[in-house]
Amino acid sequence: MEFHEVLAARRSIRAWRPDPVPPEVLEKIGSAALNAPSACNLQPYRFLVVTRAGLIRQLNDVTRQKFIGQAPAVIAALGNADGAWHRDGHSLMEFDLGIVMEHIMLAAVAEGLSGCYIGAFDVKAADRLLNVPAGWTTFMLLPLGYASEGPRPFVRSRSGSALWETVK
Ligand SMILES: Cc1cc2nc3c(=O)[nH]c(=O)nc-3n(C[C@H](O)[C@H](O)[C@H](O)COP(=O)(O)O)c2cc1C
Repeated sequence: MEFHEVLAARRSIRAWRPDPVPPEVLEKIGSAALNAPSACNLQPYRFLVVTRAGLIRQLNDVTRQKFIGQAPAVIAALGNADGAWHRDGHSLMEFDLGIVMEHIMLAAVAEGLSGCYIGAFDVKAADRLLNVPAGWTTFMLLPLGYASEGPRPFVRSRSGSALWETVK
């Protein structure tokens, strides 16, 4: 897929066929994370690729909307705020994680997969389920699989000109 086709194809998908994602495809998606930049190259993140159905169902139970239980794979993005670069005393972990997650998301779309960022979940409960070590926290969940539904109608509340302004 051409790059702009990948960008256009990425939409949030919340239902998947039961087909597993081949391990080599998951590995390839993971390699996209290595290309991501991070402030001072600190890479204050790591990823747990969950394919165990029982654990995915447990993760589903700690999300607000509860649709990830049928996903064949869930990538849990862990972040370490103290391990990130700080600007004016403020950790830029979330910025680094946003960049690397989108690398992962777009690589997944290029492989024919679909997913949806999940930010609405009980972080402490997810940390417990995933045995997240001290200093780290589950920042985002990304269920991935082969779509069994189309995306919702495309709506953007702000037009291009409101987001992107040329200053000369
Ligand atoms: C940081 C972040 C967190 C999100 N969390 C959730 C979530 O918890 N549940 C959900 O259904 N969608 C979630 N979304 C998906 C957004 O609702 C979706 O990206 C937005 O409505 C635009 O639709 P699109 O992704 O199809 O273009 C999240 C997206 C982002 C970027």
